Amino acid sequence: MARIAYVNGHYVPHRHAVVHIEDRGYQFADGVYEVVPVFYARLIDEDAHLDRLERSLEELRMPLPKDRRIIKMISSEIMRRNHLTHGFVYMQVTRGVAPRDHKFPAAGRPSLVMTARQMKPHSEKQLQEGIGVITLPDIRWQRRDIKSIALLPNCLAKQQAAEAGAAEAWQVDSDGTITEGSSTNAWIITRDNKLVTRQADHSILSGITRLSLIAAAKGAGLAFEERPFTVEEAYLAREAFLTSSTNLVMPVVKIDDRPIGNGYPGMMTMKLRQLYINYVAAGSQKPSGKKAAA
Ligand code: PDD
Repeated sequence: MARIAYVNGHYVPHRHAVVHIEDRGYQFADGVYEVVPVFYARLIDEDAHLDRLERSLEELRMPLPKDRRIIKMISSEIMRRNHLTHGFVYMQVTRGVAPRDHKFPAAGRPSLVMTARQMKPHSEKQLQEGIGVITLPDIRWQRRDIKSIALLPNCLAKQQAAEAGAAEAWQVDSDGTITEGSSTNAWIITRDNKLVTRQADHSILSGITRLSLIAAAKGAGLAFEERPFTVEEAYLAREAFLTSSTNLVMPVVKIDDRPIGNGYPGMMTMKLRQLYINYVAAGSQKPSGKKAAA
């Protein structure tokens, strides 16, 4: 089946989906993106993702390129045309095409590109094994809260992890605290069973999975703290895991070759994963995101 992409008002075969060489996304990484997970042919937390898209755009002094209602229609259409059941919808907005000049063009028209990608859910085996992460210095800019398409440091980090036989790199600030993964948020469970993840300020991306899991954990009455934690604290944690739209809740069993806890996915992590899956399954029965359902 041929994949279909949406490019500036047109649905086109994925292999013919192109933007101009002077698009500012291509020239300057002047744009932002979102990855909205899809389970059981439903978008999860669509409104929260669109809120974050709008916020990222505001930080770049750009409006949403289309009305939210239209973006939702395009999301549904791209899912339909690609027969998407499990995977994600990707959307990217750039400041558009203009002669190369650092300052903003006077009358720019933003580019909107959307794609859909089918993904296999994680296997039982993968979950039972968990994943390893490495730590490395966080060399990114100071506005990691903006979901910018400028991802070179993230790509370098993920590549370094892959070359070390790990699935993710946890980036470490100059004060020795872990910020987040190259494309995921980082979590630990302390020896006294507290769930800890870094506070969502400018130092990390405020993950939508992170937000939903916090709500689910609070709802289940679990002890929870939002604060920075050091690499040392992570080594000594009872359990560790990461979250993202494509990983949901993924157990981390090794950090820099040191086993975490007993070296197997933790019980509380798996409980949290189930809590999140229940949340997704409940959401999948609604016709759309939180705001629309309200
Ligand atoms: N990554 N931190 C970073 C740096 C990320 O790029 C992501 C998402 C997250 C988790 O956010 P969320 O829970 O909203 O997916 C945290 C996406 C999936 C990506 O770049 O592919």
